[in-house]
Amino acid sequence: MKLQTHQLLLSFVLFSAVIISTISGTTITISPGTTLYASNTTQSWSSPNDTFSLHFLPLHPPTFPPSFTAAVVHSGGAPAVWSAGNGAAVDSAASFQFLPAGNLVLVNGSGSTVWDSGTSNMGVSSATLHDNGNLVLSNATSSVWSSFDNPTDTIVSFQNFTVGMVLRSGSFSFSVLSSGNLTLKWSDSVPYWDQGLNFSMSVMNLSSPVLGVEPKGVLQLFYPNLSAPVVVAYSSDYGEGSDVLRVLKLDGDGNLRVYSSKRGSGTVSSTWVAVEDQCEVFGYCGHNGVCSYNDSSSSPICGCPSQNFEMVNPSDSRKGCRRKVRLEDCVGKVAMLQLDHAQFLTYPPQFLINPEVFFIGISACSGNCLASNSCFASTSLSDGSGLCYIKTSNFISGYQNPALPSTSYIKVCGPVAPNLAPSLENAHWRLHGWVALVVLSTLLCFLVFQGGLWLWCCRNRQRFGGFAAQYTLLEYASGAPVHFSYKELQRSTKGFKEKLGDGGFGAVYKGTLFNQTVVAVKQLEGIEQGEKQFRMEVSTISSTHHLNLVRLIGFCSEGQHRLLVYEFMKNGSLDNFLFVDEEQQSGKLLNWGYRFNIALGAAKGLTYLHEECRNCIVHCDVKPENILLDENYNAKVSDFGLAKLLRPVDCRHRTLTSVRGTRGYLAPEWLANLPITSKSDVYSYGMVLLEIVSGRRNFEVSEETRRRKFSVWAYEEFEKGNIMGVIDRRLVNQEINLEQVKRVLMACFWCIQEQPSHRPTMSKVVQMLEGVIDIERPPAPKINSNAAPISTIATSSAPNYSSSSSLFTFEASPLALAIS
Ligand SMILES: *[C@@H]1O[C@H](CO)[C@@H](O)[C@H](O)[C@H]1NC(C)=O
Ligand SMILES: *[C@@H]1O[C@H](CO)[C@@H](O)[C@H](O)[C@H]1NC(C)=O
Ligand SMILES: *[C@@H]1O[C@H](CO)[C@@H](O)[C@H](O)[C@H]1NC(C)=O
Ligand SMILES: *[C@@H]1O[C@H](CO)[C@@H](O)[C@H](O)[C@H]1NC(C)=O
Ligand SMILES: *[C@@H]1O[C@H](CO)[C@@H](O)[C@H](O)[C@H]1NC(C)=O
Ligand SMILES: *[C@@H]1O[C@H](CO)[C@@H](O)[C@H](O)[C@H]1NC(C)=O
Ligand SMILES: *[C@@H]1O[C@H](CO)[C@@H](O)[C@H](O)[C@H]1NC(C)=O
Ligand SMILES: *[C@@H]1O[C@H](CO)[C@@H](O)[C@H](O)[C@H]1NC(C)=O
Ligand SMILES: *[C@@H]1O[C@H](CO)[C@@H](O)[C@H](O)[C@H]1NC(C)=O
Ligand SMILES: *[C@@H]1O[C@H](CO)[C@@H](O)[C@H](O)[C@H]1NC(C)=O
Repeated sequence: MKLQTHQLLLSFVLFSAVIISTISGTTITISPGTTLYASNTTQSWSSPNDTFSLHFLPLHPPTFPPSFTAAVVHSGGAPAVWSAGNGAAVDSAASFQFLPAGNLVLVNGSGSTVWDSGTSNMGVSSATLHDNGNLVLSNATSSVWSSFDNPTDTIVSFQNFTVGMVLRSGSFSFSVLSSGNLTLKWSDSVPYWDQGLNFSMSVMNLSSPVLGVEPKGVLQLFYPNLSAPVVVAYSSDYGEGSDVLRVLKLDGDGNLRVYSSKRGSGTVSSTWVAVEDQCEVFGYCGHNGVCSYNDSSSSPICGCPSQNFEMVNPSDSRKGCRRKVRLEDCVGKVAMLQLDHAQFLTYPPQFLINPEVFFIGISACSGNCLASNSCFASTSLSDGSGLCYIKTSNFISGYQNPALPSTSYIKVCGPVAPNLAPSLENAHWRLHGWVALVVLSTLLCFLVFQGGLWLWCCRNRQRFGGFAAQYTLLEYASGAPVHFSYKELQRSTKGFKEKLGDGGFGAVYKGTLFNQTVVAVKQLEGIEQGEKQFRMEVSTISSTHHLNLVRLIGFCSEGQHRLLVYEFMKNGSLDNFLFVDEEQQSGKLLNWGYRFNIALGAAKGLTYLHEECRNCIVHCDVKPENILLDENYNAKVSDFGLAKLLRPVDCRHRTLTSVRGTRGYLAPEWLANLPITSKSDVYSYGMVLLEIVSGRRNFEVSEETRRRKFSVWAYEEFEKGNIMGVIDRRLVNQEINLEQVKRVLMACFWCIQEQPSHRPTMSKVVQMLEGVIDIERPPAPKINSNAAPISTIATSSAPNYSSSSSLFTFEASPLALAIS
């Protein structure tokens, strides 16, 4: 990722810095007439205690012929803190001179002056590099020029960055406005990041803000008028380390970062970033470039909108794209190329210029653009706002991401030639072939089988009637589980044909008993218990009756075969209703009322398992896949008690592997090898609650969540009061009981507390949801190492109702999964 490139670069810098500072002597005051040569790598000007030095630095990656910059660097390997001419690259014959006239100049090999401090004939008599990294030119009495007052792309601790100063890197710039806003701009015109003070501060009429990076790792604004500084951001390593240099740097990718580097460690890490989603940096991919992410890495990729474009510089994708045929040279028809899930970045100034923003439909939006000579592209938001951006500017910056609710169009000279993904296309064809083959052969098998079955059935009709009566009697008389033979189950499932799903413990098939009861038959795998013990467990499970638990009807234990027969749930599992499959937009959608009832039902089912039944059971695998819905959409928890059926030592292992990829539901204690208690179920249940509200997988990391865990993001949004942002998008236009949503979210954040003792019991959760008790404001569920602002993380405090939790705290034995 980005960090690694920086680390590489910086360790290289460190390496050169170390060589230089060890060989050259310490220079405290530099007199006019002194010169540094790019060719002599042993020369440098150092600060008194060698913390900083000024010397020629080879460019990274190395170029041929070699190029250099004249820069002030830190001995820890942090980025160069200042450079002559802001990183101007010069050849090996270049020199950095302190002229007798009193000015510093960078002269290229050809003799041309690349940079001049502009201090000639101002009485400058000495130059000094201070231990804080400031290069100062002074006359006999005071400082005339300093690198701190003329920053390039970086500021260091103790450096005051004020209104009027600018950090620059390529087309990007960073500045502090007198309002206290910090802004990043592209080409001095498009502000793609603008962070203001919070409202209570901004009405105070403060002026002359000074931005500083404090050595402890906090970015703050000082006001001459205010006794305490205003915190802008904390670095993720805030307060750590004693001799750590922290710098704020505007990188070449247009992002602003805080870097930390421990003196002498040679490593540098980024500990804060302004724009968390790199693709939101305007112009990152150049003109007409489209920024996106590759699944396999988190660094952004720059591409062209379609094959109607080509890269300006094939070896540097960030240089942007140009049309293969210019629009004015187009002999064919000009057309609009469609880009799904894409937007052309639009930030406030463009946003505010009225003619560029309309409220019209998608086709009208692109149609208007096509008809207008000044329009090059358009973006339609499909988030329900109906906003249409018409891009008339001659610089277009694209962003494509499956999470973006917008469609964009860009003008091309026809015919439109969308980007291909060749390997994918082939795979598609191969897949189609296979599918056809499989379908055909299945159909054939099915016909033969059906025919056989029909013949066989007719001849045996007599026998079946007898069986059916027997089952009905057994089932309803005693409530004891029915013992089926393997053959019977094979028959009732038509040879295990209709698969309902793949549970954590084995596949589930649909079957019809001879009394026409439809059932779900689960074929257990990996059961190594003896028959006697298996039957004992089965009777425990089947004696657990509750409206919100799936009922066990019977079982089969024959040789290797271990099967369980459950009542069939018409509407399948909850996950089918929560998560949309992008391809087959399933029409299934549960409104909020149903969702709330399901949440409550599942909580009641779990409460019964944990606290009310005779042999209490820890479920171990609470997730939407295990919450089934009957014909009235009542929630029924399934798969409980199964963890116990497996050899106990295997429970932890089995559960971990069976939910591989969906670890989002596992409480931290699973991974930390701590005892698994009913509180672990509470955690998983909390994650399910979040998914019920949001309709998104809790472990999804997307652009929208600023690449954070969804739960962490959701908590922050909740704290900000943005409940609507967390709610399933498909519900926003419906009637929602916001009070209920809030209760559900608060209960959720209590459930997913990292400390098991801070989580409520399931019965408390039920009371929270029902609104019969007041819910305290939940603390942040988990400290996320990527999230900078420590200020948002409240200290965890146990809710006052945690007393009852001792009931379910087992001794440190993962074997104890149920207690009596
Ligand atoms: C390089 O600089 C060092 C220190 O200033 C000096 O002693 C040495 O002679 C220089 N080497 C060349 C080749 O100029
Ligand atoms: C310095 O000269 C080299 C050629 O010797 C050239 O490539 C480079 O661009 C020049 N640098 C500047 C900043 O003009
Ligand atoms: C060098 O000087 C700076 C500024 O006075 C100080 O912060 C730093 O600790 C010193 N470093 C060493 C190694 O003495
Ligand atoms: C030194 O510079 C300062 C500020 O530029 C100026 O006010 C002062 O007169 C100068 N002193 C001398 C001795 O030139
Ligand atoms: C930065 O500002 C503070 C407070 O205004 C001042 O004490 C300090 O000397 C300034 N630092 C520099 C390097 O100018
Ligand atoms: C400052 O930033 C806020 C957003 O944080 C924005 O609403 C406001 O308009 C900005 N103010 C100025 C003067 O740019
Ligand atoms: C806004 O700033 C004031 C003063 O620094 C601070 O007390 C308050 O907590 C801040 N509010 C938010 C929401 O950050
Ligand atoms: C802030 O300044 C504006 C104009 O300069 C003035 O009208 C307003 O009263 C001031 N507000 C406060 C709180 O001083
Ligand atoms: C500084 O603050 C005081 C009160 O705290 C206020 O009266 C004064 O106008 C402020 N000055 C400026 C320049 O904002
Ligand atoms: C995504 O990354 C993989 C592995 O790094 C690479 O093979 C593939 O070409 C990349 N895809 C694109 C579109 O760059």
